[in-house]
Amino acid sequence: MSPGKSLSKLILSDDLREYLEKIPDLDLNLLLESYERPIPEGLRVNTLKSSEDFVVERLEEKGFKLRKIPWAKHGYIAEGGDLGKTIEHMLGLIYLQGPVSMAPVEALDPKPGETVLDLCAAPGSKSTQIAQRLKGEGVVVANDISYERVKALSSNLQRFGVLNSIITLADGRRYHRFARELFDKVLIDAPCSSLGIISKNWGIARNWSAKIPERLSKMQQRLILSGFDCLKPGGILVYSTCTLTVEENELVVNYLLENREDAVIEPLELPGLKFRRGVVEYMGLRFRDDLEKTARIMPYDNWAEGFYIAKIAKRR
Ligand SMILES: C[S@@+](CC[C@H](N)C(=O)[O-])C[C@H]1O[C@@H](n2cnc3c(N)ncnc32)[C@H](O)[C@@H]1O
Repeated sequence: MSPGKSLSKLILSDDLREYLEKIPDLDLNLLLESYERPIPEGLRVNTLKSSEDFVVERLEEKGFKLRKIPWAKHGYIAEGGDLGKTIEHMLGLIYLQGPVSMAPVEALDPKPGETVLDLCAAPGSKSTQIAQRLKGEGVVVANDISYERVKALSSNLQRFGVLNSIITLADGRRYHRFARELFDKVLIDAPCSSLGIISKNWGIARNWSAKIPERLSKMQQRLILSGFDCLKPGGILVYSTCTLTVEENELVVNYLLENREDAVIEPLELPGLKFRRGVVEYMGLRFRDDLEKTARIMPYDNWAEGFYIAKIAKRR
């Protein structure tokens, strides 16, 4: 056993271990191993500002080794230095973003001309990604509840050169009250317990309590209903989290299906990304069979972040 591995076993509280052991289709040893490994550095080339080849060549000349991410347009895994200190980063020619974190917007697949809502947007990695896909046509409305985080969102959209964005500071749980059926697409990258990114922040494991997913699940259920109500008929919603708990993932999407008859789960196409089917049975609960079409991504599936992604259409 590596010294790192024993470290995680020491730090993981009994409560968290017991909790993780109950999650179906989860290999605890592999999960602990993944928590010891740093998440690979990902970047997205900003094609709003420059050509992809130009930026890739510049970074390679500086000694970075870049590997294309198969599931993310313009996405690369980079090795060989601190990208945060490069002029390319400062000028907004690249956006630093974890490789799996790029997958929800790929699932949403925004197209030029569309009206897209990013309900929990700060600090803006996915809003800038949406804007990139809109190619300057249409609009991305980037909302967040936190004033402090909206400042970072605003500066990131500016640095990235996004002109067709509107920033709002509002509680996403109430957004449908003024934006009902306005959007072609909605992304809800929900606040969550972050069990998929513990290797970035061990504090998440240290401060764990089973009350956290329970509390967050209630908020996420309200966010998903509100976001869904903001969709035009025929629109698409993507719900994502960077956590592994069923309460914050399948249970939330199941809640939407139970409360909105026009919500239909769509299959996901994310080439090269390893994921497993969504859970349909958990602790005596039975969810809709369709939940199997959602994606549960363990950190050890791709040796990167753990995520959950569901794609939902609103029937016309
Ligand atoms: C996972 S982070 C979003 C990350 C962002 N999508 C990105 O890719 O950069 C969740 C965000 O939800 C925001 N949030 C929490 N509660 C909210 C609410 N009720 N309405 C809107 N945003 C909320 C938090 O301030 C936080 O910025």
